[in-house]
Amino acid sequence: METEILKIDENNIDDRAKEILARAGKIIRDGGLVAFPTETVYGLGGDALNPESSRKIYAAKGRPSDNPLIVHVAEVKDVEAIVRDIPSQAYKLFEAFWPGPLTIIMNKNERIPYETTGGLDTVAIRMPNNQIALELIRQSGGYIAAPSANASGRPSPTLARYCEEDLSGKIEMILDGGQVGIGLESTIVDLTSDIPMVLRPGYITREMLSDVLGDVAIDRTIIDNNSSERPKAPGMKYRHYAPKGVLTIVQGAPEEVVAYINDMTREAMQEGKKVGVIATDASQSRYEAGTVKSVGSREDEASIAHELFKVLREFDDENIDVMFSESFDDSGIGQAIMNRLLKAAGHNVISL
Ligand code: TXA
Ligand code: MG
Repeated sequence: METEILKIDENNIDDRAKEILARAGKIIRDGGLVAFPTETVYGLGGDALNPESSRKIYAAKGRPSDNPLIVHVAEVKDVEAIVRDIPSQAYKLFEAFWPGPLTIIMNKNERIPYETTGGLDTVAIRMPNNQIALELIRQSGGYIAAPSANASGRPSPTLARYCEEDLSGKIEMILDGGQVGIGLESTIVDLTSDIPMVLRPGYITREMLSDVLGDVAIDRTIIDNNSSERPKAPGMKYRHYAPKGVLTIVQGAPEEVVAYINDMTREAMQEGKKVGVIATDASQSRYEAGTVKSVGSREDEASIAHELFKVLREFDDENIDVMFSESFDDSGIGQAIMNRLLKAAGHNVISL
């Protein structure tokens, strides 16, 4: 299959863009797949109400079919049509965070096929904050099932060219809306248990949810790396975002981290390996060898979220064998950053 790649400027949805979005919507209504930008990462979209579309999504990504998909909507009334009952807490969350990087889990009704939810009776729903995504959802009939638009196991795409790398030839269309704003996948909160529970940390933090809902729990497996429990979001059990090279996170006093990484880099290079270092704006110039990339500034954690997956992809493209990363603060959005980084490293951490 030939994959068509079309650029759209989110801030200027003109007649040409509308015509493209109408065509993309028809592809989805007809059972095809379109990759599109959201504010978090690019999604791989198909009709959420069509079991065949969900099957195609799993096949294109090479994703295990027990890993449920997120249903993207453009209107709150469309949520009411696919869930059994909407808890009052959900309306508070819609009001505070939608459209935005928050996915909410509720009990599904019969309109959502089990193929979309990986066999679960619950459904994950989100309203993305991106004009291209919202218009595409409307043009597609209201419900787009979309996982991140990467091949299973690769970092989520923050640029259209990464969707192309992973999915070209397997899907009908890629909408190129430039680099996404946030860069990490949405926060997932489950409203089907007594106390709302965060199943995946993201830009919307547990504290922000607590301000609106009161008590909010967090899936133990997010904070306890050694937990033998199963994560409640099935996708969280996979070693996601795996770069091709071996990544080690180095924790400790900043001076010692730099010295240690410099030593390890020299050693690995002597063995003929290509080495990459994940640094920050402040530390970047202090690394003496290897390919050094800054993910941003510690004072602006959003900048780190924005760049992290891109840097991991770049190291892949440059065939880096060994990577070392500084560690980041685990509070606020840092929790999401460390969650993704630890997964990329297969929990390989050195504490100095
Ligand atoms: O930001 C995002 O959420 C992006 C964009 C495209 O919207 N999407 C995304 O989808 O990250 P995906 O498929 O890569 O991750 C979905 C996660 C998986 O960990 C999955 O197991 C979990 O959501 N999930 C989906 N439905 C669920 C459900 N009913 N119960 C528990 N976890 C669920
Ligand atoms: Mg994903």
